[in-house]
Amino acid sequence: MCGIIGYVGKSNRVGEILLEGLKRLEYRGYDSAGLAIIRDNSLFVEKTSGKIEKLEKKLEKVDLSGSLGIGHTRWATHGPPTTKNAHPHTDCSGKIALIHNGIVENYQTLKTSLESDGHKFVTETDTEVLVHLVEKFYHDNKLEEAVQKALDVVEGTYGILVISSSEPDKLVGARNGSPVVVGIGENEYFIASDVSAILEHTRQVIYLKDQQMVVVTPEHFSTMTVKNESVEHVVETVDWDLDMIEKGGFDHFMLKEIFEQPETIRNAMRGRLLEEYGISKLGGLNMSEQELREVKRIVFVACGTSWHAALIGEYMIEEKARIPVEVEYASEFRYRNPIIEDDTLVMAISQSGETVDTLAGMREAREKGAQCMGICNVVGSTIARESGRGVYIHAGPEIGVASTKAFTSQITVLSLLALMLGRMHTMSSSEGRQIIKALEEIPEQISKILGKNEEIKKISEKCCYYNNFLYLGRGANYPVALEGALKLKEISYVHAEGYPAAEMKHGPIALIDENMPVVIICPRDNAYQKILGNINEVKARKGKIIAITSEGNEEIANMADHVIFIPETLDFLYPILSIIPLQLIAYHIAVLRGCHVDQPRNLAKSVTVE
Ligand code: G6P
Repeated sequence: MCGIIGYVGKSNRVGEILLEGLKRLEYRGYDSAGLAIIRDNSLFVEKTSGKIEKLEKKLEKVDLSGSLGIGHTRWATHGPPTTKNAHPHTDCSGKIALIHNGIVENYQTLKTSLESDGHKFVTETDTEVLVHLVEKFYHDNKLEEAVQKALDVVEGTYGILVISSSEPDKLVGARNGSPVVVGIGENEYFIASDVSAILEHTRQVIYLKDQQMVVVTPEHFSTMTVKNESVEHVVETVDWDLDMIEKGGFDHFMLKEIFEQPETIRNAMRGRLLEEYGISKLGGLNMSEQELREVKRIVFVACGTSWHAALIGEYMIEEKARIPVEVEYASEFRYRNPIIEDDTLVMAISQSGETVDTLAGMREAREKGAQCMGICNVVGSTIARESGRGVYIHAGPEIGVASTKAFTSQITVLSLLALMLGRMHTMSSSEGRQIIKALEEIPEQISKILGKNEEIKKISEKCCYYNNFLYLGRGANYPVALEGALKLKEISYVHAEGYPAAEMKHGPIALIDENMPVVIICPRDNAYQKILGNINEVKARKGKIIAITSEGNEEIANMADHVIFIPETLDFLYPILSIIPLQLIAYHIAVLRGCHVDQPRNLAKSVTVE
């Protein structure tokens, strides 16, 4: 969702620091942007609809020196993405500025009451009530007290930063449900919604917890709860490098991240495979073998691409460990009073570790007594911290809004989980060793598929102007079909549906004609013979077939309009390979159609509102 950044320090470069930070945060939201700085003891605010570039242009001739300021990039919830509704918002006096990521649920009641006290509202946002509340409670240059009193009457989620020209070296931040990280520099501090915005300045960070706030001046910082109780903070060191959050010569972050996959998958497996015994070890689970053996049911809660990864995990774990698995949309799970028993393990899968529905689903499960874990990418994220145990996928920062490398790392980790649980139950050590051998080949096999990028681009050129696509797969490749279709929808705005191949005849077959490309994932696995029938059904109706199959499969080459070969692997590991060409197809079609690949319209990387 929205990105927030704040700076206080002695560098006198506040404007530059905020704009750089906003560019790095732009993937969180990009419909409007703004900043506020304190200059000569007065508040300067500039904002605009559109992207950061537009804000930067507007500020070209403006003196942005100073030592205190806040900046925001928005993903609109309340009120359209106009310049007026862009953050920062200011109070009636024009002395206080505030930025917000989240939703004030009781804003209507608060607004009515503030208006009757004489406050003048100028925007359609929920956020504006926050700055008027701070104004109402602001006395004697105690901004933090005003923020505490304001938050006391607020219901909803927030990551906020507030400044006042009456206290030109004080930055106040608070969080509840929306991430806030404090970066510690030398005589300077940075506060942001994620570390990518501050990484070029510092790696020493503190992650605020819900209901906590921070008060920062160039010399000092202190953390407390929003009720003014003192809290201990832990300073952590971020192990990401700056080049991980830069494009590194690629045209788009998405393409860079697709090409990183051989390495990110290696990272997901590193130190976790014990070849000699044919087992995997996942250190962060913090459960004894006995406790793990007693798990009788696993429930995955997730959203979006992570939900597709969970579906693949279901195939993997049920097949290899014979433990029943359910996959739930977190947004549904949290509200439907799910059945959780003592021996149920609930795993929240989330790249960002901040998706509000997934977090709430995990909290709901914990309330009901479930053992909970997170499978996250972002270290220190809320789900990772709240679950207190789980597995990091170690994919490094994912900036492209359409998830790619996180997906393959998630399913790699899920395959390790299937192996680990399988070996605790019925799987033999020789099968375990065979799986490890196959897993170790995956990075090289992905590199081989990536080597076909030009070929895949040519196929994409031939079908980029169709307006509907169907994606079909069977078994664990059915969720791959869903994910391939989602990638295309997200970044090309082309309608695409994923279906289990055999279900096609119960509906989607009616859509097939010569204008319908059908992407069929049909490696030589145990579903292969069955899917051949489905391919014939498409062909008989003149659908254009793009087949993803195993190397050397000439049979399919003769049936399909286009074939992309992938190396052979074990049946249950095919999804890690078969998704790669689909990511590239979506990427190339989006570029060919002139779409903004890294910042697709209406989407946000990390969805921290319901
Ligand atoms: C958003 C993103 C998707 C992502 C989903 C879940 O919709 O655009 O790419 O899959 O959120 O995010 P998470 O961080 O929980 O995996």
